[in-house]
Amino acid sequence: MAACKILVIGSINMDLVLRVPYIPQVGETLLGSSVQRIPGGKGANQAVTAAKLGADVYMLGKVGGDEFGDPLIDNLNQAGVHTDHIDLVSEASSGLAVIQVNDEGDNSIVVLAGANDLCNKDYILAHEDLVKDTDIVILQMEIPYEAVYKAVELASKHNKTVILNPAPAPDSIPDDVLGKLDYLIPNETELQKLSGQPVDSIAAAEEAAKILLSKGVSNLIVTLGSNGSLYVSANGAVHVPARTVKAVDTTAAGDSFVAAFAVGLSEGKSVEAAIGFATKVSSIVVTKSGAQTSIPDRSEVDALV
Ligand code: RIB
Repeated sequence: MAACKILVIGSINMDLVLRVPYIPQVGETLLGSSVQRIPGGKGANQAVTAAKLGADVYMLGKVGGDEFGDPLIDNLNQAGVHTDHIDLVSEASSGLAVIQVNDEGDNSIVVLAGANDLCNKDYILAHEDLVKDTDIVILQMEIPYEAVYKAVELASKHNKTVILNPAPAPDSIPDDVLGKLDYLIPNETELQKLSGQPVDSIAAAEEAAKILLSKGVSNLIVTLGSNGSLYVSANGAVHVPARTVKAVDTTAAGDSFVAAFAVGLSEGKSVEAAIGFATKVSSIVVTKSGAQTSIPDRSEVDALV
């Protein structure tokens, strides 16, 4: 059976990863232990995950003409992502993320958008045929909102499955966009921002998710870090626990979860089974350093009991 086509539309960054004992306070100077350049960007991390898990993956996004542009595209190619529609904009710099990772594997991230900011709605409109020719469209929010919303509109018009990972979360998402989403996959912080409700427990996550359901989202999956995830739909809520692992670096855990969930759906798994598959994949990702360097291939995932 031919693999389903997945189109990822989003950011491509070079990550500058600093290992630090803890995340510094305002005004504090701290000695780090290492620095590495690792391909990242929420969109690119998702595309690499889906491709390494065996899906037929296309990506829309932009990189700059600096020293990072070509290596970022090469890295996507090596993972098996179709990159023909990615633009290299010679006069722009590539997206850059400065990431601090502490001894517990938690991070703080600052992103300079660079060429990602040039992914406007005209660029999306110019690739309507690619949207039409895919099965599942995955989006995040590190490119301009106008492009994300236009992509949601086109994907919905062509009856594609639309998955939005609202990361980083805006203050709100228009109701007409929410109504076109098949799956919204926020983490606790993103859900808190979008719902305006505190999300400090699984019960609170369910209540906050219901607010977004009432605005038209069909299904929400809230990722809760070491507490697993919560699937909320009109049929109720299902909590899926995380696997217990020793986290080395949580970067790209959410990205890999979203992409693996899409791959699970594309293979005909039920929503709960696709969440279980995504949980397995992200549990491997957090045991390794970096964004795209931590993404497992399919055999590693299938070997996990
Ligand atoms: O989700 C992790 C990603 O966020 C990093 O790879 C970084 O580039 C930022 O986009």
